[in-house]
Amino acid sequence: MKKLIAAFALSLLPTLGFASAGPQTLSANIDLRDQASLQNGAKYFMNYCMGCHSLKYMRYNRMAADLGIDDITLRKTILVGDAKPGDPMTNAMRPEDGEKWFGVPSPDLTLVTRWRSPDWVYTYLKTFYADSTRPYGVNNLMFPSTAMPHVLADLQGLAQPIMAEHQGGTPMAESVGPAVGGKLNAAQYDAMVRDITAFLTYAGEPVQLERQRLGLYVLLFLGLLFIVAYLMKKEFWKDVH
Ligand code: HEC
Repeated sequence: MKKLIAAFALSLLPTLGFASAGPQTLSANIDLRDQASLQNGAKYFMNYCMGCHSLKYMRYNRMAADLGIDDITLRKTILVGDAKPGDPMTNAMRPEDGEKWFGVPSPDLTLVTRWRSPDWVYTYLKTFYADSTRPYGVNNLMFPSTAMPHVLADLQGLAQPIMAEHQGGTPMAESVGPAVGGKLNAAQYDAMVRDITAFLTYAGEPVQLERQRLGLYVLLFLGLLFIVAYLMKKEFWKDVH
């Protein structure tokens, strides 16, 4: 029993913030009810991520229906090559090629916000920094030595790392400075990255909105049932007292 309690207490530690070794994640503040944000995220994902990453558990037409994208827009702006609306969102890159080019295959991202978290993904996309020792000249605060190039560098620009004070050993980046040279300003970049994160969070659990809506009805129903049950109890016990 004691072991069980200890295990339970340990499992709570991350929630209490004790396991926060490494950099802090920033809050993504996504709103899954904001269709414009999800559509924008989908657009950026198709343009900047889909070349390397697939969303193989998601189909184009399911996404279009959920995000309010009509058929014409889907065919014109989202479908690439000979992809059909009913196809899963896979890309043309073979895992072997990814491995050859980057050293590791670029993972499928359908569930990334669930094995990491939306905040993690948001922070990851915001914390690339210049590092000349890396093959693509960039490193990342959330994912040290990541094999991914900074594909959004033309939009964000490039940031310099702020190094932690270290007694000996290799110096580590502690945070990143402001990015310079991008097409977007910091607020615009944050908004775009938030949209991409919102889209990936939706992709990880498309029924989330539906579930919340249903949950509300279930609670309402239980509330009504409680009232009826209470009135019945009063009625039944009336003669006993
Ligand atoms: C040029 C290819 C390429 C493009 C384009 C690309 N990535 Fe990546 N990405 C990679 C590779 C390779 C990895 C694996 C990194 C590793 O394991 O070191 C990766 C890893 C990731 C991870 C971490 C996954 C994990 O292991 O938890 C996330 C999140 C991610 N990418 C998001 C994106 C997003 C969002 C975009 C579009 C803005 C994007 N990537 C565009 C190559 C790419």
